[in-house]
Amino acid sequence: QLNTAEWVAACPLTQRGCVRGELPLKTKPYADQKPGTSGLRKRVTVFQQNQHYAENFIQSIISVVDPAERQAATLVVGGDGRFFMKDAIQLIVQIAAANGINHLVIGQNGIMSTPAVSCVIRKIKAVGGIILTASHNPGGPNGDFGIKYNISSGGPAPEGITNKIFEISKALQEYHICPDLKVDLSKIGKQTFEVETFKPFIVEIVDSVEAYAEMLRDIFDFPALKNLLSGPNHINVRLDAMHGVVGPYIRKIVCEELGSPANSAVNCVPQEDFGGHHPDPNLTYAADLVNTMKSGEYDFGAAFDGDGDRNMVLGKHGFFVNPSDSVAAIAANITSIPYFKKTGVKGLARSMPTSGALDNVAKALQMELYETPTGWKFFGNLMDAGKLSLCGEESFGTGSDHIREKDGLWAVLAWLSILATRKQSVEEIMKNHWQTFGRNFFTRYDYEEVDSDAANKMIKDLEAQMSEPSFVGKTFSSGDKSYVVAVADNFAYTDPVDGSVSKNQVNGMHTCEIIFRLSGTGSAGATIRLYIDSYEKDPQKIYQDPQVMLAPLVDIALKVSQLHERTGRTGPTVIT
Ligand code: G1P
Ligand code: ZN
Repeated sequence: QLNTAEWVAACPLTQRGCVRGELPLKTKPYADQKPGTSGLRKRVTVFQQNQHYAENFIQSIISVVDPAERQAATLVVGGDGRFFMKDAIQLIVQIAAANGINHLVIGQNGIMSTPAVSCVIRKIKAVGGIILTASHNPGGPNGDFGIKYNISSGGPAPEGITNKIFEISKALQEYHICPDLKVDLSKIGKQTFEVETFKPFIVEIVDSVEAYAEMLRDIFDFPALKNLLSGPNHINVRLDAMHGVVGPYIRKIVCEELGSPANSAVNCVPQEDFGGHHPDPNLTYAADLVNTMKSGEYDFGAAFDGDGDRNMVLGKHGFFVNPSDSVAAIAANITSIPYFKKTGVKGLARSMPTSGALDNVAKALQMELYETPTGWKFFGNLMDAGKLSLCGEESFGTGSDHIREKDGLWAVLAWLSILATRKQSVEEIMKNHWQTFGRNFFTRYDYEEVDSDAANKMIKDLEAQMSEPSFVGKTFSSGDKSYVVAVADNFAYTDPVDGSVSKNQVNGMHTCEIIFRLSGTGSAGATIRLYIDSYEKDPQKIYQDPQVMLAPLVDIALKVSQLHERTGRTGPTVIT
């Protein structure tokens, strides 16, 4: 609520003199610290600038914590282990202390997955948390870094707060810091520091996994999962942490506790550069897992992203479960998960570009369905209002209202719970699902780091084209397939919790959908995403190859948008 000048005036530090007698450090504001879909993401080199780039943003985050509450405030801090994380945590410690925050809870060595941070914020009733991650973006000195603020619900800060952070950052003239304060991130336990004018400042280093593991024990039937993974008729699983943060969680929970052999988990030591790879669980970047699964040695495979909130699920021989199908299958089998037996199913939700597979389950099982914009924060609002239990995005995000972030390991245990209950393979479960509900063929094409102006112009021209009265009703053809445009619109969403309800466009209305969208998480240039969803309920046609099945629609989308001509690309960087 306070602008920077008011905040500085209200700050106990300003009023009573500064930590160790130092004045607040002068800085100059930056114009580009606007948090995107999921925090502020930039190249590491941008954060490392010695003109206080990281310090400014951290100060801007802490400035949104009401000064009157800071002396009783706890913040949770953790990250995905990427390069610059430990430096950033030391800065957070120093800046939090100098701003009168009383207590920080930090994962050991700074490690804490995004879902675990959400869990801990909720468990200890913290005012919020700071997550150091650029999710699935590459790391290392030339990779990406990110800083994200979550609120007391455990979810990403809503736009009202991220806008406030941005406003503060644009006007910031100084920040407060205790430059000599250093914490030992490796030592579990409390470290207390005397900070002039404030109550002693407490930094508590906690086990990165324990609180999260305790939560999962409450959600799932661990004895049943243990039997599935290590009982007499156990299945073989292969879990790939991709050198991200989820490694220690897999080892502790899936291997030690559920008894899966140690070699079922790979790439489990977090690395600052993720071994030089994109820690992104999709068919392109998790190709190692896909190839290993093809051997038929494993019944179930999964990969995770850098910060552990995304997941990719594969069946034997590399059978791929599309994320839009994954959430639909979990919804259809939701009674396999004890948590939902306790809470009931309040509603289902998917983001707008996610296929309509979930809609079909919602309709058949008479569950409420919400269609939200991209990004997890919109789900969080629905969960806080008691309207949502299970949700997912096409971008390998699946989760529930047990926390306020998507949760990769949760999704894997959800799938294992279904396998344990149904005693079928992943492929059988999915084929069965399509027979019952029909199949949404889905693909996403990503064109990464294209020229921003070209991307913006393409979207603008598409909007203009779509708003021509003759666009609806137009026929587009590719080969022997023809499609007629039924609806053309620019997706708009009114948060149902804030009053008006957004009508969900259940896909009975149209059988195919083409969506263009610009990414909000890139760190350089623009990323264009093209999404295609096509529903088929004829049981004779549901086993086709999605890429073959969707080729005519891809062709039409490329023609209508002139995407390749405008960007100078000949194909996408990633196809899902
Ligand atoms: C991407 C995904 C989106 C997800 C977000 C954060 O955002 O598409 O579904 O919520 O990352 O993980 P985008 O780059 O498309 O804005
Ligand atoms: Zn992530």
